[in-house]
Amino acid sequence: MDTFLNEKALELKQGAIRAMFDRAKNFPGSINLGIGEPDLNTPEEIVEEGCNALRQGKTHYTANAGLIELREKISQYLSRQKINVDPDKEIIVTTGGMGGLALALMVTLSPGDEVLIQDPQWLNYYSQVKFFGGIPVPVPVKEENGFRLKAEDIEKKITPRTKVLMLNTPNNPTGAVLEYEDLVAISDLAKKYNLLVISDEVYSTLLYDGMEHHSIISLPDMKERTILVNSFSKAFAMTGWRIGYAAGNRVIIDKMIKLQENLVACVATPSQYAAMKALDALNRVSEMTEIYRERRDLIVEGLNNIKGISCIKPKGSFYVFPNIKALGKTSEEVANELLEKAGVITVPGSAFGAQGEGYLRISYANSLDNIKEALNRIEKYTKQLVR
Ligand SMILES: Cc1ncc(COP(=O)(O)O)c(C=O)c1O
Repeated sequence: MDTFLNEKALELKQGAIRAMFDRAKNFPGSINLGIGEPDLNTPEEIVEEGCNALRQGKTHYTANAGLIELREKISQYLSRQKINVDPDKEIIVTTGGMGGLALALMVTLSPGDEVLIQDPQWLNYYSQVKFFGGIPVPVPVKEENGFRLKAEDIEKKITPRTKVLMLNTPNNPTGAVLEYEDLVAISDLAKKYNLLVISDEVYSTLLYDGMEHHSIISLPDMKERTILVNSFSKAFAMTGWRIGYAAGNRVIIDKMIKLQENLVACVATPSQYAAMKALDALNRVSEMTEIYRERRDLIVEGLNNIKGISCIKPKGSFYVFPNIKALGKTSEEVANELLEKAGVITVPGSAFGAQGEGYLRISYANSLDNIKEALNRIEKYTKQLVR
């Protein structure tokens, strides 16, 4: 029977993370370390602002680019990171970071354009790029480099058809944070080969050990070839509000605004008011980051104490990417057995690209008690494999 679906839709599949959660429903009592969102709730004052907006009748469409007052606040926030963007022409408020990524790719990719994506990387990049007509080209990142994306590895994959480089720092799934020198080397490449950089910085506030966030857009002559994507989801525990933003090259932003007009009109108005409040509540971000740091220290130490597992200490996001090669099974086997035999939900590293094989992605957006219990369960499971 004709399904009426086009070829690209036929290729759409459920992502490995969601598939894992679906399977986990059959194992009640499992501890979820597979999750990619804060377990904490949105801070109360932000919730209050969203509710007030609704009560005050702010229930209408806004400008397609988002409320100008919000864009002004975003511009001020970015200026503290030495990023100068015009709130009127160079910022768009989007439906989460995902909305920004999708719009940027939709207005720039032509069929057959190659897009460089680090491997391993959050899965949506691959599916979005493919759906919008591009060809994802994986660039391996290596554990010995702390999973930092290196300019020399990028350069090896550049061809005359390369158009876009996707960057994601701090990173999902590895937790790696690019250093300033990494970004300088990558920006030199972008200029040399005339690449557009889509810089996904949705974890930019989740940094530890005194790390500072640097954005490639702030480097010389990069604004014209960069679309920065950020979000309120992770920093302010606002995943369900669906709000983020993109900033950069004004010609591209202009087309993203026009496309947004046609797709969703604008981001939900109460979310926009709540986001304005969020930018006034930056102290909440540091409080939450401190909570994650404590959890990261616990999980990294705990994993390194388990025979057969080694884990580098990432400097950002809320993921660790432990090496499980010594367990002698594929990452999918280990993730499945951890669910079935130990009651711990993780994501196989292979879900994030070929280079992710031999690793697991473990999220520590969960309570200290749950992390401790999960570590006990993981240790018990691994004891059957390595003695
Ligand atoms: C690397 C990365 N980028 C973007 C997003 C999108 O988040 P949101 O659309 O909620 O802002 C996520 C969510 O998990 C992510 O991990």
